Amino acid sequence: MLEIVTIPADVLYQKAQPIREVNASIVELADNMIDAMHAAQGIGLAAPQVDVPLRLFVIRVVDDEPRLFINPEIIGTSVETVRMEEGCLSIPGLYADVVRPRAVEVQAYNRRGRPFTLQAEGLLARVIQHELDHLNGVLFLDHLAERKRERMLRNYDAAQYAQS
Ligand code: NI
Repeated sequence: MLEIVTIPADVLYQKAQPIREVNASIVELADNMIDAMHAAQGIGLAAPQVDVPLRLFVIRVVDDEPRLFINPEIIGTSVETVRMEEGCLSIPGLYADVVRPRAVEVQAYNRRGRPFTLQAEGLLARVIQHELDHLNGVLFLDHLAERKRERMLRNYDAAQYAQS
């Protein structure tokens, strides 16, 4: 099982590299990421979270099949935004409301290396935006006001310390 890395691992703050060719090792990585996401009871997982700095992520929201996005780009966003609580497998135990566009249009490649576009809204749109951020070294906490983020991280460090 792939291990999920947590903050402050460097890979979580770096821009991931494009995938040049969708080959068997990329498909295997994606399938292993889907297994790790399910094992952790997550709804999305980006490659940097398993210490692989490449541009792909997997998502599975309720009642949906697992979805794979390779070299994804957001090509459209709604003007309307929504506030929704987010968490992250790389920041276990921390949750915060984040404001993002309500809907997005994303372009990516599938496991056969074929391009596709998807219009998403609601939870799926939210997870796509969260996971795409991971490919750019951005965490959901980075969308919060600085004071709130620092307060949460301070408390988070304290909680980690208490467990050890
Ligand atoms: Ni995350």
